[in-house]
Amino acid sequence: MLLGVNIDHIAVLREARRVNDPDIMDSLSIVKIAGADQITIHLREDRRHIQDIDVTKIISSSSLPVNLECAKSEDIISIVSALKPHRATIVPEKREEVTTEGGLLVDVNDDVLKNAISILQSQEIEVSLFIDPSKDAINSAISLGVEWIEFHTGEYANIYAMLYGNLSSSHHAISELKLPRKELIQRLSDEIENLENLSKYASDMGLRIAAGHGLNYQNVSEIAKIEDIEELNIGQSIIARSIFTGLERAIVDMKVLI
Ligand code: PXP
Repeated sequence: MLLGVNIDHIAVLREARRVNDPDIMDSLSIVKIAGADQITIHLREDRRHIQDIDVTKIISSSSLPVNLECAKSEDIISIVSALKPHRATIVPEKREEVTTEGGLLVDVNDDVLKNAISILQSQEIEVSLFIDPSKDAINSAISLGVEWIEFHTGEYANIYAMLYGNLSSSHHAISELKLPRKELIQRLSDEIENLENLSKYASDMGLRIAAGHGLNYQNVSEIAKIEDIEELNIGQSIIARSIFTGLERAIVDMKVLI
């Protein structure tokens, strides 16, 4: 299973001071040396971390393939199609959200989405849709003719955190659910089974499968066991650990677990 390292949070730290420190370009060789397989970045509409110039420089300098996450909107897609990353992962975006909170609503009659996919594919960019793990979303992705899907593993990560406790106080709403432990264990195993079955289904239907969101050093192993998932994209937990261990070590630790 391949690892894409989402380096957005290096730019989050830089933007906190608006100076070029840390320099995101310094991370490219470290990610590669550590054995990761892909650079993942998200050009958000509000440009809160990655900037257009970062994308240009990263795509031209990275020896690893670049997976560029983006919204389906016309102006973002025209930027992405001109920059020509290896892959574009279309994600839902709300300006107020802290992070991508759920999968894309994949509607086969959504002209904006259809248009985005066709513009990207006309530039020979692989297209992936970031979706919740559901059969309907997979079937819609198949109808739309994309090469990849990425399962949003946020629900899995939340249940895992409720059970084994690494929820931050900002996740209070979830922890307030206070489900009995037995029920949480059941929900976790249902979630894993669902991801396994849907990965098999999507793979049999010819899709390539990635997964990501909320994966960390505690919860990654169960997802890494799912054979039909080819790749994980992980950001927050790796960049957070790198503050203490350095980026190379943090990536190596994750690779070992995967
Ligand atoms: N994959 C996609 C499509 C994402 O939007 C994100 C979050 O930016 C990630 C993976 C990585 O999530 P995390 O930072 O929680 O590891």
